Amino acid sequence: MQLNKLKQYNGLFLSFEGLDGSGKTTQISKTKEWLESKNWNVMVLREPGGTVFGEKLRSAILETQEDIDPLAQAMLFASSRAQLLSKKILPFLSNKNHCVILDRYIDSSIAYQGYAAGLGMETITQLHSYSPLNQMPDLTFYLEINLETSLSRQSSRGEDKDYFEKNDTAFYQKLELGYKECCKVFSERIKVINAIQDIENVFKDIKQDLNDYIV
Ligand SMILES: Nc1ncnc2c1ncn2[C@@H]1O[C@H](COP(=O)(O)OP(=O)(O)O)[C@@H](O)[C@H]1O
Ligand SMILES: [Mg+2]
Repeated sequence: MQLNKLKQYNGLFLSFEGLDGSGKTTQISKTKEWLESKNWNVMVLREPGGTVFGEKLRSAILETQEDIDPLAQAMLFASSRAQLLSKKILPFLSNKNHCVILDRYIDSSIAYQGYAAGLGMETITQLHSYSPLNQMPDLTFYLEINLETSLSRQSSRGEDKDYFEKNDTAFYQKLELGYKECCKVFSERIKVINAIQDIENVFKDIKQDLNDYIV
């Protein structure tokens, strides 16, 4: 299997974005399975985490009982991300037929800390101007749903809410705005997928975009 789009890495670097309940976990698992059936090695990663240091940062932020300053949050994510890039993502991507899939990445930092928490997009993009944080995915899927669908899918999942899920409608509206801005600014990298469709049709659209990278 060869790659037919100009890419930055020997492997393929993907990220999935979208509101809670947009189907990221569902579609990542289908994408992983599909690529593996074509003999790709796939590594799925979440942030913060994925390294020993990153998992410690994850516990620190998810278990904390106090509000975390937005800049502190942004820098914590950036710190975990830099470590993940150096130790896992970039070494893995130096191999052909290797794919890294991130469940949320830079666009989540822009939407959550940049927009919803009010730091501004510029602060987040500036943080990511330094190596290795300036290494971007080849392709990002933004799974677009509306707020009502997000809330109803979250409640049907019935899990306890974590630090980032305990938020009100106004917060989600700002997140949505942040994601929309990302889609505009990074239109080359981000593919917007209609994620209101049923699971199989969402995946069909994802595969269609992936086919431009994989022949
Ligand atoms: N396209 C879809 N249509 C209907 N339900 C979906 C769809 N995609 C995912 N779901 C369901 O919605 C819930 C949230 O999906 P999930 O993949 O966990 O989203 P995320 O990881 O983005 O929060 C799960 O119960 C999942 O089975
Ligand atoms: Mg998920």
